[in-house]
Amino acid sequence: MKEYRCLPCPVTLKIVTTIDRAEANDSGILVWMSDKAQPLELSWIWVRDHSEDPTSLDPVNRQREVDTFSLDRTSMAKSVDLVDGRVQVEWTDGSPTSLLSSGLLSSLSPAAPMARPWRSPSELEVEFVPFDEVMHTNAGLRRWLEAIGRNGFGLVSGVPTDQASAQSLASRIGYVRRTIFGDMWTLSSEVVEHADSAYGSATLEPHTDGCYSHDGPGMQMFACSERTGTGGESVMVDGFAAADVLRSMDPDSFDLLTRVSVPGHYIEAGIHLQASRPTITLHADGSIRQVTFNNYDRSPFLLPAAEMAAWYNAYSAFHELLVDEASWWTHRLEPGDALMFDNWRCLHGRLAYTGTRVFHGCYVNHEDLESRLRVTA
Ligand SMILES: [Fe+2]
Repeated sequence: MKEYRCLPCPVTLKIVTTIDRAEANDSGILVWMSDKAQPLELSWIWVRDHSEDPTSLDPVNRQREVDTFSLDRTSMAKSVDLVDGRVQVEWTDGSPTSLLSSGLLSSLSPAAPMARPWRSPSELEVEFVPFDEVMHTNAGLRRWLEAIGRNGFGLVSGVPTDQASAQSLASRIGYVRRTIFGDMWTLSSEVVEHADSAYGSATLEPHTDGCYSHDGPGMQMFACSERTGTGGESVMVDGFAAADVLRSMDPDSFDLLTRVSVPGHYIEAGIHLQASRPTITLHADGSIRQVTFNNYDRSPFLLPAAEMAAWYNAYSAFHELLVDEASWWTHRLEPGDALMFDNWRCLHGRLAYTGTRVFHGCYVNHEDLESRLRVTA
């Protein structure tokens, strides 16, 4: 039986398979999983360190109970068997029986990413999930979460236009992150207490928020509460897809953007936030972890002349991909519509507008989206 689960970071779809066979060799155990031709090679110390017996692992919170550092690294198995679908190991030194489940061993294989990169809105399947379904059913919540995981953003309709309802909606994923803007904030051209380009009515180029935070917010939500006039469409662009295009078109520029740390700042009376990270950050396997791009908030930095010139070329090449309107999903949010997006993947922008455009906004942590995906069936 295949069980679909979301396992480790970032947003992934994991298939749990079964154990076909387990055999000891001189250095440990070979385990054949039902979906792989090649066996997993598990050393003796690894088996004891990862045993799921109750003296080694807390069965509820999955915290390690075994003292890794006092384990005898030379001890060997007396027997290795497959019992009730699990690998069972008895030890020559009389240590507690070790147990390894198929779920544990399946989790070691790279998980399929849930994200489907898109370079055109025609590649997207977009739906608005009704507010009541998201709030009151796991199936509705799951549809919203999977859209965010797949496309980098997800939409909800029928959201009551008060701020408390918007907060309740965001809290279906995780707690609202408190920042200098408070927990929930209002975004409109009438707000005057923040001297930021977001609080205006001009066009805003695609950007990510929180370049001035060492841990830029993972998720951001806009819930529209008032709307009159013209324009003001919200813009989404898939930063991961744009970075992948840059990697294939111009690998040197891509590489430079993964190495040069770019500072960003936020300044108003009594506040001067600043942080720095590369425009594109990668996981250890080379896949893209996060895109950070906000030319409005970039603060001064200087490289040696030749590298500075190369950086401007690379940064401009990436910008050109991001402002390619053919790659934008644009939509005018109306009262009752909410847009939650992955601020590490999708850049957001706005077309110029007239009239009134009021959003309730907030940030949510990326790990809380990942957690909700893992636990919501
Ligand atoms: Fe923004």
